[in-house]
Amino acid sequence: MSKYPSGKRKKIGSVKIVPRSKGEKDPSSYLLRMLINASPYYVSGSVLAQKLKMSRVGIWSRIDKLRKAGLRIEASQNLGYRLAGEPNQLNLSLLNAWMKENRKICDVFIHDEVDSTNSEVERLLASDVKTPFAVLSNRQKKGRGRLGRHWHSPKGGNIYLSLGFRPNIQAIRIRNFTLWLGLNICRFLRHFMSTDKIKIKWPNDIYFDGRKLAGMLTEASIDCESIRSLVFGIGLNVNTQPQRYPKNLAMHSVSLQNINAEQIRIHELAAKLIKIILNCYKNCISQNIQDQLLCGWPEVDELSGKKIEVYCGKETFLGKGSGIDTEGNLLLKLRNGRIKKVHSGEIEVLV
Ligand code: BTN
Repeated sequence: MSKYPSGKRKKIGSVKIVPRSKGEKDPSSYLLRMLINASPYYVSGSVLAQKLKMSRVGIWSRIDKLRKAGLRIEASQNLGYRLAGEPNQLNLSLLNAWMKENRKICDVFIHDEVDSTNSEVERLLASDVKTPFAVLSNRQKKGRGRLGRHWHSPKGGNIYLSLGFRPNIQAIRIRNFTLWLGLNICRFLRHFMSTDKIKIKWPNDIYFDGRKLAGMLTEASIDCESIRSLVFGIGLNVNTQPQRYPKNLAMHSVSLQNINAEQIRIHELAAKLIKIILNCYKNCISQNIQDQLLCGWPEVDELSGKKIEVYCGKETFLGKGSGIDTEGNLLLKLRNGRIKKVHSGEIEVLV
C-alpha cells in the first residue's frame, strides 16, 4: 500500500472542486480526481453528492466499492472523505483520475495478466483500435526484452506499460525514438525520485547506481520504408524487492522503492509516464529532436568514459564509451584512438 499525504482539516475557505469534463464517463474516476485534487484535505460527502449528482448513500456505496478494490479512503463524519492509500494492483478508475489530473488523455487498457503488453498492443493495433492507446498489466507471463530475452515480470508493484501508435512516416524519422524516450524518462525519474544517479545504458536500459531499474523495447512494423505501427514498451521496477528476483537478476537489478525506502504511488507514476511517452512521440514525429538529444545525452550517459566491451555478432570490441552520434550510434573509443560507431550490440561494463 502506498500512502497519500496525511489528512488535514481545511481552516479557511473551501477545497477547490475540479469540474467534470465531457469525456469523464466513469463517476468513480471523477470522484477520485476530486479526492486527489483536494489532497491532503478532505472533501465533504455533500459536495461529492452534489457534483456527482448522486445521493450521499450513493457516494458511500461507490466509496465502499473502491475500498473493496484495495483503495484506502478515510471517512470522517465532520470532514468527509480523503484518499489515504492505494494498492499496487492497478485500478482503472484511479489511473484515469491521475491521467485527467495530468491533462493527457489516451485510452488505457488494464489487465491482471497478459503474455506481454507489447504483444497485446500489437493485437489491438491489428484490430483497428484508435491510436494512441496504452496497455498496462499487473503481471506478464512472457515479458519480452531486447535481443529476444525474457523480461522478468512478477505480480505486485512493477510497471509493465506499452503504447501503440500508427505514425505512417518514414522510418528514418524515428530512428532515435528509444534514445529520446530514454533521455526524457530518465530526466523525469531523476526529478520524481530527487536523484541524479539515474542514467541510461545505451541503448535501452535505465540504471540507478550501476544496477538496472528499467528496460525499454520499441518494436515497429515497416511497409515500404514507412512505419505503419509502432509499439513502445517499458518495464520499470517500482515497488518490488529485486533481491527476491531469480539469482541471475537479483544482483544487477534495483527498484524505485530501493532508492528511497518508500512505496511509490504506481497510478500517479504510470499516468505521468504515459504523458511523457505521448509528448515524446509527438516531438519525434513533428520536429527534429537530434540536437536536443545530443545536447542532453552526456548528462544521462551511464557509459561515458567507462571501459566497456561490445559484442556485435561474432565480433567483440574493447574501448571507452564516448557518447552517441546524430544517428544514435554508440561511439566507442578504441585503444588505438579510433572511434568505432556501434549500431547494435550487447554492452558489458568492465570494472
Ligand atoms: C530490455 O531491457 O531488454 C527491454 C525490456 C522491456 C520490457 C517491457 S515490459 C512492458 C513491455 N512488454 C514487454 O513484453 N516488454 C516490454
